Amino acid sequence: MRLRSLVSLQKVWFFIVLAVLPWAIFTNVSFGQERKIDSMFLDLDKKYRMPGEWTMLPFELEDPYKRVKNGPPLANIINKANVEWISRWIANPKKVVPNAKMPNLGLDFEEIKAVIVFLSSLKEKELPQITWDAFLLKKEDELSDDEYDKMEKVFNNGKGVWGRARCTICHPIKGAGGNVGVGPDLGEITTKINRNWLYDWLGNTKSHFPDTMMAQFRFNDTDLRGIVEFVMRDTQFVPEEKEEEAGEVKEAKPAEPVVQILTEKEFSSIRKDIALIEKGKDIVERARCFVCHDIKGISELMPVVEKKRDGLAGFEKILYEIRCLSCHRIQNKGGTYAPNLTIAGTKIHMNWEKGFLMSPDIIRPLSQQMPKFNLTEDDAKAAIEYIEKNLHTKETLTNPFEGGAPSAAVVAAGEKLFYEKGCNTCHAEGTKGGGVVGPNLQTVGDRLQPAYILYHLKNPQQANPQAVEPTFGLSDEELKSLVGFLADHVQKKEGKE
Ligand code: HEC
Ligand code: HEC
Ligand code: HEC
Ligand code: HEC
Repeated sequence: MRLRSLVSLQKVWFFIVLAVLPWAIFTNVSFGQERKIDSMFLDLDKKYRMPGEWTMLPFELEDPYKRVKNGPPLANIINKANVEWISRWIANPKKVVPNAKMPNLGLDFEEIKAVIVFLSSLKEKELPQITWDAFLLKKEDELSDDEYDKMEKVFNNGKGVWGRARCTICHPIKGAGGNVGVGPDLGEITTKINRNWLYDWLGNTKSHFPDTMMAQFRFNDTDLRGIVEFVMRDTQFVPEEKEEEAGEVKEAKPAEPVVQILTEKEFSSIRKDIALIEKGKDIVERARCFVCHDIKGISELMPVVEKKRDGLAGFEKILYEIRCLSCHRIQNKGGTYAPNLTIAGTKIHMNWEKGFLMSPDIIRPLSQQMPKFNLTEDDAKAAIEYIEKNLHTKETLTNPFEGGAPSAAVVAAGEKLFYEKGCNTCHAEGTKGGGVVGPNLQTVGDRLQPAYILYHLKNPQQANPQAVEPTFGLSDEELKSLVGFLADHVQKKEGKE
C-alpha cells in the first residue's frame, strides 16, 4: 500500500517535470551564462523528489542560503568601512552598491550620525596591523621607477590569483558578472575598505562573519598580498569618473537630492558623545536593524545566536570553510549555479575528482568554472572519500563494460551514432570541434563512470531535472555503443595511472 502511493507520487513528479520543463527551458535556461531556476520549480522539485532516493548522510548539511541573519555582524564595522562610506550606505544602500539587498530605511542625516556613533561604540577588536613594504602604501604617481616595477610585480601576481580564484563568478563588477548571485558588487570597493581589512578578510573570512557564504581560499602570504594589491589598485574597483568633470556639459539631469556625508573629521568630534550613542541605540532598535544583523545588547527578542563550529573535521570542515554549497547542491541544500553533487559518487571517477579539486580545469567552456581554492591532497582525499561513500544513487547502476573495455567495433558504432544523432551540435569531442552548449567530451572517459553515462543518456533529466539535452529514446544497443565510444575518451598520457 505504502509502496504504491510512493510509486504514484513519483509519477506525479514525472508529469510535473514534463509539464514544467519546456517552459523552464525557454524562460530560464540561457546557455552557460546564467543558470537561474524559477523558485517555483525548486519548490516543486523539493516537494516531489522523494528523500527516499537519497542516501542518509553522516552529518546534517548546513545550507549557506538558510542563514538566520542575512546581513553581516556589525560589531567591527568601523574597522572595515570608513564612516563616509557607512553614512552614504545607510542613507541609500542601492545607490552605493548596485546589487545591495539592504532596504533604504529612510533615516535622516542626524539619525544616521547617531547610528554610526553607536555602531562604532560596539567595536570588539582592533584591526590587525599588517606590515607592508613602504612603497606599496604610496600612490602610483608618487612611486619611483624602481618602486613602480616592484609594485607591478606584486600586482601582476595578484591579477593571476584573482583570475584563477574566479572571484567574479560570485561578485559582479559594476553590474557585470556575479552569476552565482551571492556576492556584493565590488566595482567601487576601494571607496569602502582598507588594505589591512582586506588582507585579514581574505585570509580568514569566517573570523569576521561566521555565516558568510564566501569561500575561504587557501592563499599563501605572497598570493594574499598580491590580490590585495590588485584589488586596491586596479581601476575596475574604483568609481568611474563622471564625464561632466571633463568639461563637456551633458544634458541636464533632474537634480538629485544632496546626500549629506559624515566626514572623518566630524565623526572624531562626536564619537565619544554618550547621549548620541544612546540615541543611536534607540534608532537601531526602532529601525529593527537586528532582524538582519547580529547586534549585541540590542534586543532580548532576537538574541544573538552563535553556532558552535569548533571541532569540525574532514569534509564537514571543508564544506564549511570553502562553502561548496554556495554554488553546488547536495540533496535539497545549497545553490544551483554549479553541477548538482547529490549523486557525484556514482557519476564521477574519484581519481579524476581528486585532481580536479586540487587544480580544477575547464569542463564546461561557457563561463562556468570552478575556482581554484588550493585544496591540499588531504582535503581532496577527505572530499572524495565522503563523496564516494555517501553521494550515490540508491540502486547500483550497471556498467555495460564491467568485464572489460569496449571493443573497437562498439567504439566505431558509437562514433557513427554520435554524429548521426547530432550530439556534436552541443558537444565537442576529439579534433572535429563541435558545440559548446554541453561539456567538452574530449576526456569524458576519465571523468564520468560508464554506468553513469548510460544512466544519463537514457534520460538526461533523470539526474538533472533542468538538463537541456533531449531524451533521444535510444535502443539498448545504441546506448551501449555510445557509452563505449565516450568511455574510450581518455587522456592517454604516459605516466598517468
Ligand atoms: C532587511 C534586512 C536589513 C535591515 C533591516 C538592515 N540591514 Fe543592514 N544590511 C543588510 C544586508 C543584507 C547587508 C549586506 C550588504 C547587502 O545589502 O547586500 C547589510 C549591510 C549593512 C552594513 C554594511 C556592513 C558591512 O559589513 O559591509 C551596515 C553598516 C548596515 N547594514 C547597517 C544597518 C543599520 C544601521 C540598520 C538599521 C538602521 C540596518 N543595517 C538594517 C540587511 C539589512
Ligand atoms: C562563493 C562565492 C564567493 C566567491 C567565490 C568570492 N566571494 Fe567575496 N564575498 C562573497 C559574499 C557572499 C560576500 C558578502 C558576505 C556574505 O554575505 O557572506 C563577500 C564579500 C567580499 C568582500 C567584502 C565586500 C563588502 O563590501 O563587504 C570582498 C572584498 C570580497 N568578498 C572579495 C573577494 C575576492 C577577492 C574573491 C576571490 C579571491 C572573492 N571575494 C570570492 C562571496 C564570494
Ligand atoms: C564559487 C562556486 C563554487 C564553489 C564554492 C565550489 N565549486 Fe565545484 N564547481 C563549480 C563550477 C562552476 C563547476 C563546473 C566546472 C566546469 O564545468 O568546468 C564545478 C565543478 C565541480 C565538480 C565536477 C562536477 C561535475 O559534475 O562535473 C565537483 C566534483 C566539484 N565542483 C566539487 C566541489 C567541492 C567539493 C567544493 C568545495 C570544496 C566545490 N566544488 C566548491 C563551482 C564551485
Ligand atoms: C541540445 C544540446 C545537447 C544535445 C543535442 C546533446 N547534449 Fe549532452 N549535454 C548537454 C548539456 C547542456 C549537458 C550538461 C548538463 C549539465 O551540465 O548538467 C550535457 C551533458 C552530457 C554528458 C555529460 C553529463 C555530465 O553531467 O557531465 C554526456 C556524456 C552527454 N551530454 C552526451 C551526449 C550524447 C551522447 C548526445 C547525443 C546522443 C548528447 N549529449 C546530445 C546538451 C546536449
